[in-house]
Amino acid sequence: MQIGFAKCVFPKRGALVLGVLENRRMLPKTRMINKESGGLLETAMKGSNFTGKSHEILTVYSLSGRIVLYGLGTGDEINKLWCETAGGRILSNLNKSGETGATVIFEEHPKAQGDIHERAAHFAYGALLNSYKFDKYKTKNKASDSSTLKKLTIAVDAHSVARKHFSELQAVADGVFFARDLVSEPPNILFPDSFSKKLQSLRTVGLKVEVLGEKEMSKLGMGALLGVGQGSSRESKLVIMRWTGGRRGEKPLGFIGKGVCFDTGGISLKPASGMEDMKWDMGGAAVVSGLMKALAVRKAGVNVVGIVGLVENMPDGNAQRPGDIVKSMSGQTIEIINTDAEGRLVLADALWYMNKRFKPKFMIDLATLTGAMMVALGQINCGYFSNDDTLAEQMEKAAKAVGEGLWRMPLGAEYNKMMDSDVADMKNAGPRFGGSVTAACFLERFVESCPWSHLDIAGMAWSAKDAPTVPKGGTGWGVRTLNELVKSNYEGV
Ligand code: BES
Ligand code: MN
Ligand code: ZN
Repeated sequence: MQIGFAKCVFPKRGALVLGVLENRRMLPKTRMINKESGGLLETAMKGSNFTGKSHEILTVYSLSGRIVLYGLGTGDEINKLWCETAGGRILSNLNKSGETGATVIFEEHPKAQGDIHERAAHFAYGALLNSYKFDKYKTKNKASDSSTLKKLTIAVDAHSVARKHFSELQAVADGVFFARDLVSEPPNILFPDSFSKKLQSLRTVGLKVEVLGEKEMSKLGMGALLGVGQGSSRESKLVIMRWTGGRRGEKPLGFIGKGVCFDTGGISLKPASGMEDMKWDMGGAAVVSGLMKALAVRKAGVNVVGIVGLVENMPDGNAQRPGDIVKSMSGQTIEIINTDAEGRLVLADALWYMNKRFKPKFMIDLATLTGAMMVALGQINCGYFSNDDTLAEQMEKAAKAVGEGLWRMPLGAEYNKMMDSDVADMKNAGPRFGGSVTAACFLERFVESCPWSHLDIAGMAWSAKDAPTVPKGGTGWGVRTLNELVKSNYEGV
C-alpha cells in the first residue's frame, strides 16, 4: 500500500473520507460537499444513529462514489495519538470496502492539539502501522489479497511539511515491522544462526554487526548463557549491533534482548498445550533489533549498542539439568533449579558483557521473562523495574508519548534474598509468588552500579486480537517507546 500527501483538492476517483464533529456539526469542506450533493450527508446522518462521536464511522454512497464520515467528537480529544488510531481504523474500514484508492481531507480545527501537518503525518503513520501483515507462509487466502486499498492520499494544505515529518515516522515503522517479522517467523526458520544472519543484513543500513559463537563465548566464560543452549543442536550466538551516530568517544546507550528462539522449558519441560507460543520467546531480542534498525534508518544522532543473546532451550541427552551449577561471566555461580527459568541466564551474561565492554550510560533489557507478569498486568501494561528513578521517569514519559503502557514494579532486598542458594551464589528460580520480581532481582545481580531498567514484555510481545495500530500477531511493542526515549533525552546532547 502506498501512502502519500497532496494539496487539499477533491479527487475525481476513489473514496473520500471526511470528518464530522459531535452533534453532526460539519467542518467547512464537509459542509460544502453536503451542499453540492443536495444535503446527502445530512440526510444520511439523520437516517442513521451516527452523531459524530469520537472514532464513529458512517459510510455514505453518493453518485460520485463512497464517502466515509468519521466522528471527531468535540474536537479537543484530537492529538497525534488520536490521529494514529483514526488512521488505523479508517484503513481497516477501507480495506474491507473494495475501494482501491481513497483521499482523506484534513481540515483545521481550533480545539485540536499540535500542528495540523504533524497530525496528518501521525494519521499516515497509524494507517501504515495498521497495514502490517505476516502472510508469507500462506499459499491461499492471503490477508494481503483481501485488503483492497492500494493508495491512500492525505489531503492537507501543509502537505510538504507533513511528508517530511512522516518520513521520520516511517523509519520507526521500519523498526517495528522488523521486530514483528522476527517474532512471527516459525522456530524451524528462525533459530540462533539464521537470526544472526538477518541481523548481519542490517549492515546495509549502517549498523556494525558482530557475531560471537559458542567458542568465543566459552572463552569469555559465559557459562550461564551457554548452559541454556547446551541441549540444542543449534549453536548459540551473541550478536552485538552498534550505531555510532553520536560524538566520537561519547558513551553509548545499551539495549539487551532475550532471544530464546524456542523455549521448550528444557528438562523442566513445558506442557504441550500452547507451547507453540514459545516461538516468540525471542521477543526482547526482536525489539532490540527493531530499535537498532529504526535508529539507523532515521540516522539518530547518538551512540547505541544493542546486544541479543540467541539460544534454543531444548531437552536432550546433553541438556542442562535441574541441580547443575554454572558459572557466569561475572564469576558468580548459579544453581539451576528449573531449566525453564532460562531467559535470566541468557541475560545475566549479556548484561555483564555489555557493561564491561561498553560502559554504557544505561542498560535497558527486554525479555519475555515470566508468565507471572502476564498474571500481574495482563496485556495492557508492560511491567518494568529500575534501579534509577531518572531513567524510570524518562521511560514512562516516552511510553506515554507513543501510547504504549508501562507500569513500574518494585525491587528490594527482601525479594532479592529469595534468590540465594545454599550451594551456589544464587539460584535461577525462587518461590512461585512474586515470580516476576525475583526474576528482576536475579538480573540486578549482573548490573553493578550502572543505571538499569528491565522490561518484562511477556504479555506484550504477541497479541491475539487486532487493534487499530497493532494487528494481531507479533506487536513490536517497545520499539516506539525506546525510540522516543532515545530521541527526547539523548540525541544532540
Ligand atoms: N518464556 C517463559 C515466560 C513466558 C511464559 C513468556 C508465557 C510468555 C508467555 C520463561 O522462560 C519461563 O518459562 N518462565 C518461567 C519461570 C519459572 C520457571 C521460574 C515461568 O514464568 O513459569
Ligand atoms: Mn522458560
Ligand atoms: Zn523463556
